[in-house]
Amino acid sequence: MKPHPIRRTLAATAVLMLAGTASAGEIEVLHWWTSGGEAKAAQALKATLQAKGHVWKDFAVAGGGGDAAMTVLKSRVVSGNAPAAAQIKGPSLQEWAAEGVLANIDDVAKADKWDDALPKVVSDVMKHKGHYIAVPVNVHRVNWLWLNPAAFQKAGAKPPTTWDEFFVAAEALKKAGIVPIAHGGQNWQDLTTFETVALGVGGGEFYRKALVQLDPAALKSPTMEKVLATYKRIKDYTDKGAPGRDWNLATAMVIKGEAAMQIMGDWAKGEFIAAGKVPGKDFACMAAPGTAKAFTFNVDSFAMFKLKNEANTKAQKDLAAAILSPEFQETFSLNKGSIPVRLNVKMDRFDDCAKLSSRDFVDTAKAGTLLPSLAHGMAAAPATEGALKDAVSQFWNSDKMSPKEAMEKIAAAARTK
Ligand code: GAL
Repeated sequence: MKPHPIRRTLAATAVLMLAGTASAGEIEVLHWWTSGGEAKAAQALKATLQAKGHVWKDFAVAGGGGDAAMTVLKSRVVSGNAPAAAQIKGPSLQEWAAEGVLANIDDVAKADKWDDALPKVVSDVMKHKGHYIAVPVNVHRVNWLWLNPAAFQKAGAKPPTTWDEFFVAAEALKKAGIVPIAHGGQNWQDLTTFETVALGVGGGEFYRKALVQLDPAALKSPTMEKVLATYKRIKDYTDKGAPGRDWNLATAMVIKGEAAMQIMGDWAKGEFIAAGKVPGKDFACMAAPGTAKAFTFNVDSFAMFKLKNEANTKAQKDLAAAILSPEFQETFSLNKGSIPVRLNVKMDRFDDCAKLSSRDFVDTAKAGTLLPSLAHGMAAAPATEGALKDAVSQFWNSDKMSPKEAMEKIAAAARTK
């Protein structure tokens, strides 16, 4: 007997639906990309996953630098409700993996030859006991100075390449009624500025000893005292609205010409671009004073959590693979202000800031001055980094603490485990 036409259609629909449920998974992704440029970049990730037929569940926790996101993540994991993927970076990946909550994604890594496609300094961090548990997204450079050329012109000031020049320019800008430096007084931004000054004043070797190895002698040295004095001098050139300000609002001051400079990683470029500004014309980038021959890196990455549902696990693996595809690498970093982390991605469509970053990433790696950013989770365990953020911020905010006293506090914070 021939099947009834309606029954036949129903059967076909059922098969289709089954196929649909078998391949379409839901993937919940925790991140803190909520500013203009960041949100555009996150959107690119969402679109990539949706194009594969999966459902994106956005788990955005606002707060630059990600401290708020990490607090929320901890409570979700503790209650047995981890997202599929979370923006976790640097040494803290090892802590999460040691908890046994992260998934092994070696199969995806093998299929796409991640060991060949990634710089070793990056792939090592993505592995726990030799197995991939996370996928890197991009490379941000932290030691940048962002400038508004029109503001410099108005003040007759010269873009600074040394800290001495920086203070000369800052004085001229102040006299012209322009806020010399846009700052957001949040502890991670205080530390971002601090590490950049440490690199500029002390050089690469000092940075490594003091802020990566946390060597007590370097942390309590005459060089450190000079770094702290220089750092504190910058505060005279920030405005009254700085305390508590979000980093992207500080960038907006430079965009509008209310302020002339910002010391910030190149996610700030994402803000300029999202506001329709043209690099080299409306805004300029240069290595922060004294840091042209070094590179503090900040690699964004997503850790993958163990999942039970098969379709969702498939979606998770698709996400991991898509993140390292050359097309996504390009689109994402064009929006985010970063450079691709995958080797040999074409840089034709990138601006001069990104091209410089890409060249310097390679050159500094050879010269031994490619350094992990302390303020962005690349150098120390989260507890140590947190204590250092607080100690540096206390010094920044205090009217009384001397650089000598600050050195003691910072050295003590460095011992936090
Ligand atoms: C960094 C993160 C960047 C950027 C920035 C501000 O830690 O790596 O991707 O978004 O925070 O939120």
